[in-house]
Amino acid sequence: MKVLVIGGGAREHALCRSLSLDPDVTALYCAPGNAGIAEVAELRPVDALDGAAVARLATEVGAGLVVVGPEAPLVAGVADAVRAAGIPCFGPSGEAARLEGSKAFAKDVMAAANVPTARSYVCTTPEEVDAALDAFGAPYVVKDDGLAAGKGVVVTDDLEEARAHALACANVIIEEFLDGPEVSLFAITDGVTVLPLTPAQDFKRARDGDEGPNTGGMGAYSPLPWADPKLVDEVMQSVLQPTVDELRRRGTPFSGLLYAGLAITSRGVRVIEFNARFGDPETQVVLARLKTPLARILLGSANGTLDTEPPLNWRDDAAVTVVIASHNYPGTPRTGDPIEGLDAVAAEDAPDAYVLHAGTRQDGDAVLSAGGRVLSVTATGADLTQARERAYAAVARIRLDGSQHRTDIAQKAASEA
Ligand code: AMP
Ligand code: GLY
Repeated sequence: MKVLVIGGGAREHALCRSLSLDPDVTALYCAPGNAGIAEVAELRPVDALDGAAVARLATEVGAGLVVVGPEAPLVAGVADAVRAAGIPCFGPSGEAARLEGSKAFAKDVMAAANVPTARSYVCTTPEEVDAALDAFGAPYVVKDDGLAAGKGVVVTDDLEEARAHALACANVIIEEFLDGPEVSLFAITDGVTVLPLTPAQDFKRARDGDEGPNTGGMGAYSPLPWADPKLVDEVMQSVLQPTVDELRRRGTPFSGLLYAGLAITSRGVRVIEFNARFGDPETQVVLARLKTPLARILLGSANGTLDTEPPLNWRDDAAVTVVIASHNYPGTPRTGDPIEGLDAVAAEDAPDAYVLHAGTRQDGDAVLSAGGRVLSVTATGADLTQARERAYAAVARIRLDGSQHRTDIAQKAASEA
């Protein structure tokens, strides 16, 4: 099978890496890709938001499966355009991707499906904003309704900051604060059958100790030794299957990757958000642990045949990924700096640790930073302690002027395991 992956972040690098190791995959293309993905897939330029262009490219390379990585093309209906060209596509329709594209829509689906989530108000006037902030009290949770790459949310004890963010959003949702650790649980679905993956935890704040602003994600690990072994079954029953059933009932079935961002609160599991695609950086650790070849599962989702797939197999190994971000991320990042040490990681740390590229580009012999999150250094080990050691040993070999990374990814979980 020939596979075309759309996107060019560390998530797509992780997807391409797994697909390149799958014997069912005879040719692998990625558009637009990045400097690291070029080592495992043939890169093609494309405007990922242009459905017609993606469908043309898929036809041209003879793809038997297209995998759409990021949310923006999904919300723009790129999967619809690929399917309209008669090519199986992994990823939801534009209509179903509203589960991520509009937080208000997601709240409506959850209410209809009786899925547990934070109580919330959609506000349209400053008076409604003040009333909602007052009703919930601090800490305040203020969310922009649209896509914001994980950066549209402000959680603060400062009423003025909460109010200012609310007034800066076109449409704003104000909701109850959820205490407790967060878990990301992904499920692959064809709109009927739901296949949960293994849970992971993401680190959203920019700095150690969960300080600093929200980011797209600064690191992740899996498994979660502290989590209840029944968590996946519980979330399947209370969240994933009801949500998939509700979207099908509405005539907009969701196929692809359903990402449940969960808070494990003192009062039970609550959905913080849904995403309509693989999470980044959690995918890097989830796929590092997946033994089952990836292509046929993604094709099963695209073709509506997941009910015939055997259960997934997982390695006992733990996996940790540490994101190296540019100077000034998550503000306007500085780009164009040379990255050194990639060869040293390949020579010294492989196969237990390896570098997945996010915002990078090739410039002659040099690899340059080209985005906010630049690299996702991933490692596996017998347990989280060993996976952490290997990941940070590899991080230490990499030089990128002004770069930043967290030093505490998976630290607490490793020490408690
Ligand atoms: P979201 O874009 O909805 O995933 O929000 C980004 C991050 O903000 C989440 O991963 C949480 O860390 C935090 N957050 C969002 N909603 C809440 C909430 N209701 N209570 C506490 N933290 C939240
Ligand atoms: N890691 C958070 C996300 O992918 O949205």
